[in-house]
Amino acid sequence: MPNLVKPEILNLDLGERSYDIVTGAGLLGQLSQFLLPVIRAHRLAVITDKTVAALHMETLVKGLEREPDQTIILEPGEASKSFKTLQVVLDTLLAAGFSRTDTLIAFGGGVVGDLTGFAAAVLKRGCSFVQIPTTLLAQVDSSVGGKTAINTLAGKNLVGAFYQPRQVLIDTDVLQTLEARQMRAGYAEVLKYGLIDKSEFFDWLEIQGRDVIALDASALTKAITTSCAAKAGIVARDEREHGERALLNLGHTFAHALEGVAGYDGRVLHGEAVSAGMLMAFEFSRELGLCPGQDVHRVRAHLERTAMPTPERVLSGLKTDAKTLLEFMRRDKKNTGADMNLILTRGIGKSFIAPNVEPDRIYQYLEMIVGA
Ligand code: GLY
Repeated sequence: MPNLVKPEILNLDLGERSYDIVTGAGLLGQLSQFLLPVIRAHRLAVITDKTVAALHMETLVKGLEREPDQTIILEPGEASKSFKTLQVVLDTLLAAGFSRTDTLIAFGGGVVGDLTGFAAAVLKRGCSFVQIPTTLLAQVDSSVGGKTAINTLAGKNLVGAFYQPRQVLIDTDVLQTLEARQMRAGYAEVLKYGLIDKSEFFDWLEIQGRDVIALDASALTKAITTSCAAKAGIVARDEREHGERALLNLGHTFAHALEGVAGYDGRVLHGEAVSAGMLMAFEFSRELGLCPGQDVHRVRAHLERTAMPTPERVLSGLKTDAKTLLEFMRRDKKNTGADMNLILTRGIGKSFIAPNVEPDRIYQYLEMIVGA
């Protein structure tokens, strides 16, 4: 059995709903040491998808030192975050007699994590669940903080709950099997923390970012633990997004428009849209006279050096115009009534929530980059 490097343990402080985020290379194979001891007495269901099951299920079961009482293997992809799949998951668990004292293990990327978390929130009004994220994006963002959801005809993540996991277990080794495109998509969310309020982290990423994407063990661990600590701090202060947590949506309103135009058909991954969307937020802030051009150049140069998606690259694969993009931006959950609320920036590490942004100004910027 390989020796496990001592894992990093970080606590997300939410009173009685506090939990640990445990990060380490090889954690999966030695899971039983770290999974909350209380869970060992309960029945366990592992919910995963076909890709993750084929690659890592054997290691997970060995690490658990027991067979799960139930295993549910979903189709990979966003389509599984649906009412239909939720019903299949809940019916399966109820038929197997799962109850409030049992635990669901979300073993996969954001789709599996969001769906399993929501199933846990509603199964007999709530059972415990644990996140074992297997993509970089899920490890640094979606597995932490308790946002759970499914998609509906009206849009993404519109039905869900704030429901915290009991623990987040991050094995950095599982990223070795992740394709480069998915690594870059996850890296966008890493970069986000530097751009929101950690300029020294952005400085570090300017030097080490390529090593993170290339899966260098120590750079990767530092990037993941710094990202999780940044997110844990924000969530601890504003669990239900009454204020500060909205900063985690830097670039996301632009991103949702790009994803919406692409129709969630796999042409533009969420993290790819976020990468382009963050640069759009910086450029738009510069157009409003808020952000120094020098900072916009630094962000663009970093995206180019790390081969991350830029607005031009994403838009070149889409047929759209300013009016369509603005329509998608208007549907964003952060908007209240006709007002458009965006996350804008005064520079690297200086993002802020901007209420009542004039749609005309956004339109002018979009027209500048995409045409009318
Ligand atoms: N992914 C944004 C949040 O968790 O608030």
